[in-house]
Amino acid sequence: MTYKLISSPLQGFTDFKFRNTFNKHFGGINTFYAPYIRLNDNLEMKSSNFRDILPVNNSVAELIPQVLTNDAEEFLIVAKDVRELGYSELNWNLGCPSPTVVKRGLGSGLLPDADKVDSILNKVYSESDITVSIKMRLGFDNNEEIFKILPLLEKYPIKNIAVHARIGKQMYKGIVDLDSFKRCIASTNHKLIYNGDISSVAKFTEMQNLFPEIDTWMIGRGIIADPFLPQMIKANVTEHPENSNELFKSFHDELYDTYAEALSGPGHLLTKMFHFWEYFSMSFTNSHKVLKKFKKAQTINAYRSAVSETVREEVLKS
Ligand SMILES: Cc1cc2nc3c(=O)[nH]c(=O)nc-3n(C[C@H](O)[C@H](O)[C@H](O)COP(=O)(O)O)c2cc1C
Repeated sequence: MTYKLISSPLQGFTDFKFRNTFNKHFGGINTFYAPYIRLNDNLEMKSSNFRDILPVNNSVAELIPQVLTNDAEEFLIVAKDVRELGYSELNWNLGCPSPTVVKRGLGSGLLPDADKVDSILNKVYSESDITVSIKMRLGFDNNEEIFKILPLLEKYPIKNIAVHARIGKQMYKGIVDLDSFKRCIASTNHKLIYNGDISSVAKFTEMQNLFPEIDTWMIGRGIIADPFLPQMIKANVTEHPENSNELFKSFHDELYDTYAEALSGPGHLLTKMFHFWEYFSMSFTNSHKVLKKFKKAQTINAYRSAVSETVREEVLKS
C-alpha cells in the first residue's frame, strides 16, 4: 500500500530553517505542516509567522500553514493572508494542550465545545473557499469529546482530520489511546490521519498493522529525535545507513550555522541547540550520557567538542 508521511508541526523546532535543512539532508516526508499562526492585537500575522511561511523562505515540496484560533473572523483573516501568499489549504489546530492556550479556549481547549467548533466552521465555509483540514486530539477532558464533534464535521468538505490519539489533559505523556482512534475510523466518512508516538520503524509497522485503512501518517517528535526515521520507514529498513554519524553531523552543522546566523549571541544559540539535543540524544544508545554532555557545554567551544565527541563515540539506536 502506498502511503504518505507528514511532518507534524512543533512550535520552536520545525520552523523553515529546520524544515529546509532536514529536507536537504534527509528524505521521506511528503508534506510539512508549519507551526501554528497567531494574529497579534492588530489582527495581523506575527512577523515570525509570516517569515516562516513566506514561499521564498521555503524549499520543501509541500507546506501547509496552520492557524490556532477560536474565532471565525480571525480564521477568515488568516485564510485570506495565506491565500495571498499562494496557499490553498489552512489547517486548524484543535490539539494544542498548553495551559495558556487551553485557558483561552484555544487548541484542545475548544474540544469540549462541539457547537462552537461547528459554528466556526459554518461561518468559515460560508465566507471562504479555502480548503480546511483539521488537527485535533481525542478530547480535552475525556476521549468521548471527539465522538460529539465528528458527526458535526460530516456536513463540511474537510480535506482530512489528523488525530493525535491523546486527550489534552495528558499533554504529551501517558499512552496513546489506540482503541479510541479505531473507533474514530468507524465514526467518520472523512479521511483520517494517525498521529502519536511513531518513534521507530517497528512502531510505524505496528500502527500500520493496527490501522490498515489509514494511508497518511503524521510524525512529530520522532523526526527531530531521529531525522533518518522517515526515509527508513519509506525504505522499510531498521538499520541506519553505515555512515549515519557523518550524515547526521553534516545535517547538524548546517542547522547550527543557520541558527548562528539568525540568532544574536552564543547564549541564544546554545539554548536553541540544547533543545534540539534533548530530542537528538534520544536516538543515541547512551542517550543520558549524550544529553549530560550538552548540559555541561556552556560555551561555543565546549558545544562543538560535545558534537564531535558524540558523533565519534556514540551509535544511533536501530
Ligand atoms: C514542543 C512542541 C510543539 C508543538 N507545536 C505544535 C504546533 O504548533 N501545532 C500542532 O498542531 N501541534 C504541535 N505539537 C504537537 C505535535 O505536532 C504532535 O501532534 C505531537 O507531538 C504528537 O505527535 P508525535 O508523538 O509524533 O510527536 C507540538 C508538540 C511539541 C512537543
